[in-house]
Amino acid sequence: MQIYKVGGAVRDRLLGLPVTDIDWVVVGASAEQMQALGYRPVGADFPVFLHPRSGDEYALARTERKNGRGYAGFTFHASPSVTLEEDLARRDLTINAMAEDEHGQLIDPYNGQRDLQQRVLRHVAPAFAEDPLRVLRVARFAARYASLGFTVAAPTLELMRQLSASGELQALTAERCWKEISRALMETSPQVFIDVLQACGALAQLIPELAPHWGPERAQVLARAAAERQPLPVRWACLLHGLGNPVQPVCERLKVPRECQALAQLLERYLGTAQRAASLAPGELVELLQHFDVLRRPQRLEAFLAAATLLQHGPFPGAERLRQAARAMQAVDAQPLIAQGFKGQALGDALQQARLQAVGATR
Ligand code: CTP
Repeated sequence: MQIYKVGGAVRDRLLGLPVTDIDWVVVGASAEQMQALGYRPVGADFPVFLHPRSGDEYALARTERKNGRGYAGFTFHASPSVTLEEDLARRDLTINAMAEDEHGQLIDPYNGQRDLQQRVLRHVAPAFAEDPLRVLRVARFAARYASLGFTVAAPTLELMRQLSASGELQALTAERCWKEISRALMETSPQVFIDVLQACGALAQLIPELAPHWGPERAQVLARAAAERQPLPVRWACLLHGLGNPVQPVCERLKVPRECQALAQLLERYLGTAQRAASLAPGELVELLQHFDVLRRPQRLEAFLAAATLLQHGPFPGAERLRQAARAMQAVDAQPLIAQGFKGQALGDALQQARLQAVGATR
């Protein structure tokens, strides 16, 4: 059997980028042989194994064929007779379809190295269309490598357009979509991800609420969020802000994690009130900050202020007053009240009163 390094590890080494995980492909071996050598299968009926010590993924060379809609409608054929070239042919992009043997020799039947040099994201073959998730993957790679000058090849964009128009993206699960979206939003040029999805018509399929509102201004906000290395909830909340549609259905449809959804909703509901923080009464401030769950999740207020600052294109007027009020609330100590014998509802009321006074005293 022969073992080759494949995919992202080969691509990123040629780009001079750090390589974190290495994927390997094994040619000329059976599942039984792999197990006999101590490799652990990752699933009962998928020809991928983990190395007993390094934990790297070793996949048997395979071909894939689509026989139905969606991800479940896939059959693969792994056998010792499948060649390296056949395995590389089923992959998405030419830059991801290169392998390296144990001597460091490159095997590049689909001209991935040329496309790396020319900074082009190009599909390997029409079989690209067999997995519609690849529309999102290509957009994600475009977001990752835009700063190096990469763009999507015109025929690949055309194929992505056809795939989007066919309605195939609807068959993708929310989990697979969100995984791509969340990774792409954390790339260095996340706005390029949305640009590419828009250019091929996928945005209208995936986030139809956003598609008519996507433009240079929103792109700039997202680009600045990335330049500031803001966390995912800030990027997500900025992306969805001010669409004229509630954010909750979008978040539920994509099964967006709680923190991303919470921040998008806080921005939708309380941006206007927060802006007027300096003129709010202590009671209103306490109530607002309780919506932020500021005592248990102080980082949420900071994320909110980061998003609000980005959307304002400058300092957020209410920021200092909100921080000051939050600090005052956080400083209220329950212990003296407990020592005085307060408990249950009475303790809650006394604490609330103490927080109101503390916030009032900071004016
Ligand atoms: N691949 C593919 N089509 C997919 C998913 C993966 O063709 N829908 C292939 C590509 O050859 C890819 C390899 O499987 O290079 C490994 O996939 P993955 O680990 O998801 O991506 P990487 O290319 O390693 O990129 P990343 O740096 O994002 O992990």
